[in-house]
Amino acid sequence: MMLDYSFFLFLLFFSFTQPCNGLVLGLTHYKDSHEPMARPLRPFSTTDLSEPVRGYRDGYLFSLSLGTPPQLMQVYMDTGSDLTWVPCGNLSFECINCKDNRGDRVMGSFSPSLSSSCSRDVCDSHFCVTIHSSDDSYDPCAMTGCFLGSILRGMCSRPCPPFTYTYGDGIVLGTLTRDTLMVHGSDQSVTKDVPDFCFGCVASTYMEPIGIVGFGKGALSLPSQLGFLHKGFSHCFLSFKFSNKPNISTPLIIGDSAIASREEVQFTPMLKCPMYPSFYYVGLEAIFIGGEILEVPQILREINSQGNGGMLVDSGTTYTHLPQALFTKFLSVMGSKITHPRSVEHERKTGFGLCYQVPTAVTESLPSLSFRFVNNVTLTLPEENYFYAMAPSNGTYIVKCLLVQGMEDDSYGPAGVLGSFQQQNVEVVYDLSDERIGFHARDCALLAISHGLYKK
Ligand SMILES: *[C@@H]1O[C@H](CO)[C@@H](O)[C@H](O)[C@H]1NC(C)=O
Ligand SMILES: *[C@@H]1O[C@H](CO)[C@@H](O)[C@H](O)[C@H]1NC(C)=O
Ligand SMILES: *[C@@H]1O[C@H](CO)[C@@H](O)[C@H](O)[C@H]1NC(C)=O
Ligand SMILES: *[C@@H]1O[C@H](CO)[C@@H](O)[C@H](O)[C@H]1NC(C)=O
Repeated sequence: MMLDYSFFLFLLFFSFTQPCNGLVLGLTHYKDSHEPMARPLRPFSTTDLSEPVRGYRDGYLFSLSLGTPPQLMQVYMDTGSDLTWVPCGNLSFECINCKDNRGDRVMGSFSPSLSSSCSRDVCDSHFCVTIHSSDDSYDPCAMTGCFLGSILRGMCSRPCPPFTYTYGDGIVLGTLTRDTLMVHGSDQSVTKDVPDFCFGCVASTYMEPIGIVGFGKGALSLPSQLGFLHKGFSHCFLSFKFSNKPNISTPLIIGDSAIASREEVQFTPMLKCPMYPSFYYVGLEAIFIGGEILEVPQILREINSQGNGGMLVDSGTTYTHLPQALFTKFLSVMGSKITHPRSVEHERKTGFGLCYQVPTAVTESLPSLSFRFVNNVTLTLPEENYFYAMAPSNGTYIVKCLLVQGMEDDSYGPAGVLGSFQQQNVEVVYDLSDERIGFHARDCALLAISHGLYKK
């Protein structure tokens, strides 16, 4: 079977002024690849894990502790890819075409030479074959120059050759590395060491300033390597207003308690996509704008025989994307319900379709927005999840823009993407045992407080 690579290119950089963070970058972090079926290599104990997640710029950061003694790094949590990678090496991390990543140094980098438990992955490992997206498991060792005889006898223990891994817009180049990963139990004081966790040690990237932890379903992903692929995880992303505040985070829960049934969480089935089996897809049935129904095309509800369609749930993409034709209708229905003056200047500056000068004196003057997924699951979004203030108020008016975008190329791959911005203050449950995704709108800051993750 031939491999098929296709990269989704949409949502490039843009910046807007926002009171506490100067720049918001577009993230698209999902990678396509055919992969051998994921299997947990080392079933982990049944204890649940809980790791703090917080907002930073246009995504959500996860703390990774790698090595002996542990080195701490902050990386983006991405449900749209599998690989975990960290900037690696001494001071040499290079990010090509990164606008402003001076502040990102504080995210930390990994020094293999300072860890006593670090090793390079070898060419005949399952992970090495996976990252090289080969369906011939001998390829990586052949690349290292071993003789066939030694490859067949399993005697070619050369290092896994360097790889590149491609995201929506970005590329990273690195080497597969293994080291101890330290994780936390539901009780933060309980830690557990996972030996030989496999990740990318990356010295240079194109447009990827910050490391990433992959939460997809492929063999390399963190839930997969830790043996949680048949359980699940859940997160509750804080409001964007807490972005860049290190003092507040919410728990990312991995294990049984993440998926334990609760009445308030509504579940929609995950769609099966044999072509992109690592991704999480749901079916979108309708959109409601100020109570008016907007029918959506069939391609958003199900994956067709070519493997295209469905709505990707992706924490590594910032804004929700809709197919172009639907997006145009979405803007016109939304626009027809709003009487505030348009701010064409901000639309031009930000690239968003609808910006308004909203009088500061009125509250709740913008139409409600709900998504209905398969199984009559209705997710009503808090207003700040779609209309966001782009600049401080001038006293009378505040400019708010609709932060939803059209898919740049909707002819293949997912038909739409549910991005992290629209997941603020929504608990999202990835139930992998029952192959369903649950949503529950709630105030995630309260969860931070109840877990002692808001430190004054
Ligand atoms: C990185 O720094 C450590 C300690 O400063 C040093 O021992 C090591 O040789 C350096 N490695 C490289 C690749 O420069
Ligand atoms: C779908 O859910 C809504 C409430 O969210 C309810 O009013 C409606 O009757 C449900 N429809 C079906 C077909 O179950
Ligand atoms: C705020 O902006 C609006 C629209 O541009 C303008 O009409 C109004 O006079 C401004 N108010 C102040 C206090 O500057
Ligand atoms: C964050 O916490 C530290 C102490 O832990 C405190 O000094 C600081 O004021 C807090 N910052 C914010 C913005 O709450």
